[in-house]
Amino acid sequence: MAIKIAPSFLAADFSNLERDIRAVEDAGVDYIHLDVMDGHFVPNISFGAIVVDAIRKHTDLFLDVHLMITDPASYIQPFADAGADLYNFHQEVEGDLGDLIGQVKAAGMKTGVTIKPATSAETLFPYLSDLDLALIMSVEPGFGGQSFMPEVLPKATALQGEIERLEASTEIEIDGGIGPQNAADVVAAGVRVLVAGSSTFKGGDVAGNVKAIRDAGLSAL
Ligand code: DX5
Ligand code: ZN
Repeated sequence: MAIKIAPSFLAADFSNLERDIRAVEDAGVDYIHLDVMDGHFVPNISFGAIVVDAIRKHTDLFLDVHLMITDPASYIQPFADAGADLYNFHQEVEGDLGDLIGQVKAAGMKTGVTIKPATSAETLFPYLSDLDLALIMSVEPGFGGQSFMPEVLPKATALQGEIERLEASTEIEIDGGIGPQNAADVVAAGVRVLVAGSSTFKGGDVAGNVKAIRDAGLSAL
C-alpha cells in the first residue's frame, strides 16, 4: 500500500464504536487514529487509555494514538498497557524529546512526534533516525472538522528530503481537514499517511469515503 489512510475516531459515533471499527476495517483502512486531549495542551477533552483499551479488544488494526497532552511522559506505560501501537506526542511539550522517544521505545511502542502549524520541520531533523512517524498538523490541534492549511505542505517536502538524506524510514503523516479534495496535493508534497476524520464518516458511507480519499491520494504517485 503506497499510501495509508488513518480515520480519526474523533468523528466516529462514541456510542457505537464497535460498529465504526467494523466499518473502517471493511473499508480497508491502514491505521485507526485516536485523538487524546487533556483540556490543557488543547482547549478540548476527549478520552484516555481506557477507551484505547476498549477499542484494542475489538480490532487488530494498528492504533495510532495522537497525544495532545502537556505531559506525555506520565502516560507512556498506561497507553502501552492499553495496546497502543504508536505513541504520537507533540514536539511543543516541555522536556527532552530524545529522552521521551527513548522511553516510548523502551515501553515497546512505535514513536511519533507531531508538529503544530507554527512549528518548523527542522525541529524534528535531529530525531528522524529514531522516529517511526512524523505528524504534520494541518489545523490547530483540538477539534475535528476544521479547514485545511495548505501553507504547511512545504514541511512535508522538507521532511521527506531529510529522511531520504538520512536513509531513514520515518513515515510522514498529516492531520486536519484532509479529504478527497486535497489528498493528491498532500501526497505530492511527500505525505504517505493521511488522517481523515470528518471526511471518513461523512454521510455514513465509510467505504466509499475511504476509497475516494485513497484514489485521490494515489493519483499523485
Ligand atoms: C485535531 C485532531 C484530528 C481531527 C481531524 O486536533 O488531531 O485528528 O480529528 O479531524 P478532521 O479530519 O475532521 O479535520
Ligand atoms: Zn489527530
